[in-house]
Amino acid sequence: MSDVMEIPQSIKSDLRWVKICHKDDLVPNSGIAALVNQQQIALYYLPKQNNVVYAVDNWDPIAEAYVMSRGIIGDQDGVLCVASPLLKQHYDLATGKCLEVPEHTLGTWKTRWNNNELWLYTG
Ligand code: FES
Repeated sequence: MSDVMEIPQSIKSDLRWVKICHKDDLVPNSGIAALVNQQQIALYYLPKQNNVVYAVDNWDPIAEAYVMSRGIIGDQDGVLCVASPLLKQHYDLATGKCLEVPEHTLGTWKTRWNNNELWLYTG
């Protein structure tokens, strides 16, 4: 019998899940910014959308500023999106794709709840 315990791949990849904050730190239906591994991420907590928290880059690639967490959440032809607070382009919250200028895309991250703690997949 070996003294070394092999960590299953499923748990190894689980190490990329990082605890971000408590539900109370989030603002329902609005954005906040979080710093995760030196990267600014905009989080949008939508209690009416199955309690989902969307996570995208806080960097607006068109305005070239860290502002996306201050964007307004809305619906553009049935697509749940966030509007840049500066130049008003809309980004699909699920895919990060800019609706007006599709060559611009925000990075997106998976999130999940563990009780009332929000976790983000950094892999
Ligand atoms: S920042 Fe509030 S629990 Fe971590």
